[in-house]
This record gives sequence, C-alpha cells and structure tokens, in this order.
Amino acid sequence: MQTLELDLGNRSYPIHIGRGLLSQPELILPHIHGASCVTVSNETVAPLYLSQLEQNIAALKHSAVVLPDGEAFKNLETINLIYTHLLEQHVDRKTTLLALGGGVVGDMCGFAAASYQRGVNFIQIPTTLLSMVDSSVGGKTGVNHALGKNMIGAFYQPQCVLIDTDVLSTLDDRELSAGLAEVIKYGLIRDVEFLHWLDDQMDNLLARDPDVMAEAIFRSCQHKAEVVAADEFEADQRALLNLGHTFGHAIESAMGYGNWLHGEAVAAGMVMAAEHSLLMGWLDTDEVEFIRRLLIKARLPVAPPESMSSDDFMRYMSVDKKVLDGTLRLILMKGLGESVITADFDPAALQRVLARDL
Ligand code: NAD
Ligand code: GLY
Repeated sequence: MQTLELDLGNRSYPIHIGRGLLSQPELILPHIHGASCVTVSNETVAPLYLSQLEQNIAALKHSAVVLPDGEAFKNLETINLIYTHLLEQHVDRKTTLLALGGGVVGDMCGFAAASYQRGVNFIQIPTTLLSMVDSSVGGKTGVNHALGKNMIGAFYQPQCVLIDTDVLSTLDDRELSAGLAEVIKYGLIRDVEFLHWLDDQMDNLLARDPDVMAEAIFRSCQHKAEVVAADEFEADQRALLNLGHTFGHAIESAMGYGNWLHGEAVAAGMVMAAEHSLLMGWLDTDEVEFIRRLLIKARLPVAPPESMSSDDFMRYMSVDKKVLDGTLRLILMKGLGESVITADFDPAALQRVLARDL
C-alpha cells in the first residue's frame, strides 16, 4: 500500500492506494468518530462491493442507501433520496457517510455530507479509475442542473480516501478509458515526463497491469493533492485542473448527461484546447499531434460531436464556473506539460475551434 497526505492543516487527510484495501478495517475505522455510518452507493456498485465494505463496519450501526446509476441521476432529486434515508434512519450529526462508487456517487455523497444537518463527516471509497485519480480527492462535491454541469455544490473535504485498485477488475473498458483522460490531463498540465511515461505504458494500462495502474493512480493523486493543497478553493492554479473541461462540460450538457462520459468529453475538450493553443502559436503541430495520438491510443474521442454548433458551445460555456464578471477564462497550453488560465485569448481563434474551421 502507498499513502499520500493531502496537506490542509487540521483538515489534512490520507489517500491510501493499494490492493485489497476494502478488506482492511484498520484503514476505515479510525476515520469514523461516531457510533454509526451510512454507505451511499448505486445499483451497479452495491451488489459488487457493499457486503465487502460492510464487513469492516459490522460493529457499528450501519445502513446503506442505493441510488439509481448514471450521470442523468446526478441531481437534487437524487440527493433528496439520501436526505430521506438519513432522516428515516434518525441519523445524527456524528454519523459518517461512506461514498462507495464512481465520481457520480462520490460527488453526490459529498454534497449530502456537506449539507445534511449542516455537515457530517464522509469517506471517499472510489471505484472507477476516474474517481480514484480525480473526483475523490480535493473536496469538490455537487450535482448537475439542466442548464449546466456541476453547477450546484460545495467544497467539502473527506476524512480519508481509500483506493482499492482490485475493484477496477469489474470496470468496463469504456469507463477505464474515460479515467485515463483525467490521468493524461495531469501530464498535459504539469508533468511532461509523466506524459511520455503514459505514452510508453498505455498498452499496459489498457491491459490493467496492476503495478503500472497503481503507479499511474499514485502519480495522479500526487499531482491532485499538490494542487489542492496550494489552492483549495480555486483562487487560481486549481483552475488548471479544468483543462478541456469548459469544452467538455458543454459537450456533456448539450448531448444529455450520460451520453458522452465525462472523461470522453474532457478528452475531446483537451484536443480543442490544444487546437486553440496551436492557433495562438503556443503549441506546435507536432505537439498537437502527440496529444491526439496519445488520446486515440487510450481509446478516447479527439473531436467534439458533429451535431454541436458553435452556438451550442457558447450557450453552455457562458455559464462555466471560470466565467468571472462576464469574462470567459480558458485553460490553454504553452508547450506540453505547461498550462495557463487566461482571458487573454484570440476570440476569432476560439470561434474557429468551435465551428471546426481548422
Ligand atoms: P460514474 O460514477 O458514473 O461511474 C461510471 C460507471 O461505472 C457507472 O455506471 C458506475 O455504476 C460504474 N462503476 C463504478 N465502479 C465500478 C466498478 N468497480 N465495477 C463496475 N462498474 C463500476 O462515472 P465516473 O467517471 O466515475 O465519474 C464521473 C463524474 O465525476 C462526473 O459527474 C464528473 O462531473 C465527476 N467529477 C468530479 C470531480 C471532482 O473533483 N469532484 C472531478 C472529475 C469528475
Ligand atoms: N477536477 C477538478 C478539480 O478538482 O479542481
């Protein structure tokens, strides 16, 4: 097992990564301070892993709420199912919620924890690659609104993140690739050496080689933890973690939540950011080709849906969380492994990217 610490002063927490961790009560129990806990999972993950998790907490009063599965259910109506369960179980403020699932479950459980009785503790137990390398770490929680992705939420940190890499054995290939998009993102933003390592190791990652996978997860969590420790509330550099997300969120919202996976939309969005950077003279053609080739190798899309017009993009991009005082800010690249947040981009170049006039 490897352990990282996300350093947030007295709200710091460990991120444990390894095989078989779901069967190690000593990793979970120290983070449960009251006499009860409630697992939040979904109808796909609960039949696979809930009973294994429950063996750790058998001595505590515990129950589970099993949500419908899918991005289409990441909304306030589903959050209400969690609140109803907590109230029906007479759960008090000393309870701990356990998020057992992918990013959708983790984001919703975290938001329920942040808001139920003004805040109860929670633990992230991510079960997709994407949630292991990104969403379970850093405390962004929330739900979608019909008018925009992740528009309702809170910053609220877990007590601990427990990553049992064995659970990846049941994840389907498309979801694995979606997770690789966020792994590649860290390389593009801040670590060119990692990017080349991913290029070399892509076949092993797709084959789910346990050691290579653990290394990719560890290095991704290390990047995420460093950035969040430096800028928890996204005053500046945390925004870089949103490379490709302004375009990606527009794709997810416009195509209907769940039709394009989050990681797929981010992959296409990162290529759009690269194309924009090329038009700005900040990347060269070979670098953009390298990015495309790496994402294709990871079995990810490298262009937005043909059905989306530039007006469709602009409608959703205008409610992006990086819009400040009416000004859109974008994450662009200035070379591989270096990204910037900027409002100082050429709008004509953006228009060409959105209209696919390249
Ligand atoms: P997901 O939670 O929808 O999971 C993908 C699918 O895999 C689901 O059908 C799920 O039931 C299934 N699944 C989960 N674990 C499994 C397992 N071990 N075996 C078999 N099936 C399994 O999707 P995701 O990609 O994990 O997360 C995407 C969500 O995360 C999006 O809503 C996105 O906005 C959010 N996100 C949040 C942050 C953050 O910082 N909070 C960061 C990135 C993404
Ligand atoms: N996934 C982006 C962030 O956590 O800031």
